[in-house]
Amino acid sequence: MQDKVAVVVGATGGIGSAVVQQLASQGANLVLAARDEGRLTNLANSLSGDSLTVPTDITDPQQAKDLMAKAASYYGKIDILINAAGAGILKQYNKLEPADLEAMLNVNLKGSFYTCQAAAEYMKEQKSGHICNVVGILGKHSMAMASAYCAAKFGVVGFSKCMADELKRYGIKVTLFYFGGVDSPFWDNVSLKVDRSKMLSTQTAADAILFALSAPPQAVPMEINIQPDSHLFF
Ligand SMILES: NC(=O)c1ccc[n+]([C@@H]2O[C@H](COP(=O)([O-])OP(=O)(O)OC[C@H]3O[C@@H](n4cnc5c(N)ncnc54)[C@H](OP(=O)(O)O)[C@@H]3O)[C@@H](O)[C@H]2O)c1
Repeated sequence: MQDKVAVVVGATGGIGSAVVQQLASQGANLVLAARDEGRLTNLANSLSGDSLTVPTDITDPQQAKDLMAKAASYYGKIDILINAAGAGILKQYNKLEPADLEAMLNVNLKGSFYTCQAAAEYMKEQKSGHICNVVGILGKHSMAMASAYCAAKFGVVGFSKCMADELKRYGIKVTLFYFGGVDSPFWDNVSLKVDRSKMLSTQTAADAILFALSAPPQAVPMEINIQPDSHLFF
């Protein structure tokens, strides 16, 4: 990862921060994005190497564009985009308010769409790049209580595969990660009964992302699926 420029969206989250630590230890130049500026600064201060923090709300397409413009202006290129921002509202379908559905679609679907779209403009110019979308297993399988979340995550898989088809001629790879439950702050406010001790660790998720990023140029890891032991109690 030496001299690679990686934009990590959701950098302060459980999965994002584990990826950031691994990329930093391997010499990558990092652009750290999420909404909370204080947490971004703390994360940047914990790293030994250089990094740029850009407070960003990815539900706003202009902020997604500004993030990529600042990254490219500071480091001169964007090699890697990690989309690890998101949130979960898990309720029965008939308990979901319109605002819940809006929130799921805004951050999980539209937010990752906007960041991919914005980063791809720079990657196309360079004729290289790697987009890693941390979808989750609920991007391809259903689960009770997850109708709004799945609606967004299935959408991420759909647009990512279409973008991959359009971007491969520019040497841009797109990898989708279908992790099962990962023990992270994501679960702090979820009312579903789960056993977090049986979940994947954020380290395991980060290892998988680094594995995909380390593939040789001619190899395209399109989808990586890692599941934990069952951790759900309905
Ligand atoms: N944990 C799991 O079991 C699991 C499994 C599979 C997939 N996933 C997916 O993996 C991704 C990361 O999950 P995680 O477990 O690392 O969650 P997390 O620990 O809750 O972290 C979420 C991150 O997203 C950022 N974020 C939230 N809304 C944002 C917005 N509008 N704009 C920019 N950044 C925003 C948060 O920072 P701010 O609040 O400061 O913005 C934080 O950095 C999510 O898409 C999640 O759906 C999670």
